[in-house]
Amino acid sequence: MALERTFAIIKPDAVKNGHIGEILTIIEQSGFRILGLKKRTLGKAEAEAFYAVHKDRPFFSGLVTFMTEGPVVVLALEREDAIAKWREVMGATNPANAAEGTIRKRFAENIERNSAHGSDAPETAAVEIPFFFSGVELL
Ligand code: RTP
Ligand code: MG
Repeated sequence: MALERTFAIIKPDAVKNGHIGEILTIIEQSGFRILGLKKRTLGKAEAEAFYAVHKDRPFFSGLVTFMTEGPVVVLALEREDAIAKWREVMGATNPANAAEGTIRKRFAENIERNSAHGSDAPETAAVEIPFFFSGVELL
């Protein structure tokens, strides 16, 4: 299979709880190349735009509040089958359902404060990566 790119976020709960380093280690040990990486705090409008697909869901405003409460680390990642592999490494959305050893099982607090984001399809990754990174930032 060809190399594929995905977009990831280390969410505010995991940053606040001191898990950036452990999650970056998991990323590298899972065979991803880190093409782009930055730490920043999302503005309300940015978080709303990023999660616009969920704007009619009951959890939307809570999700935006959570995602803007503190810094996040945004990442562009590359490996074979990157999108599916990163979702496997993250584990299920609800940590109660996440497999042993996954990021969400290890670090997530609950279904909302769930430590990591990953693109869910190639079309999503193709929008999410340029949302945060310009071409010259992807090395
Ligand atoms: P993500 O987009 O962040 O990678 O997560 P996902 O695909 O596993 O889950 P998705 O359905 O896209 O939901 C996006 C994020 O919204 C929060 N959420 N809260 N309170 C709730 O019931 C609820 N459901 C989802 C989570 O932070 C989830 O990751
Ligand atoms: Mg999603």
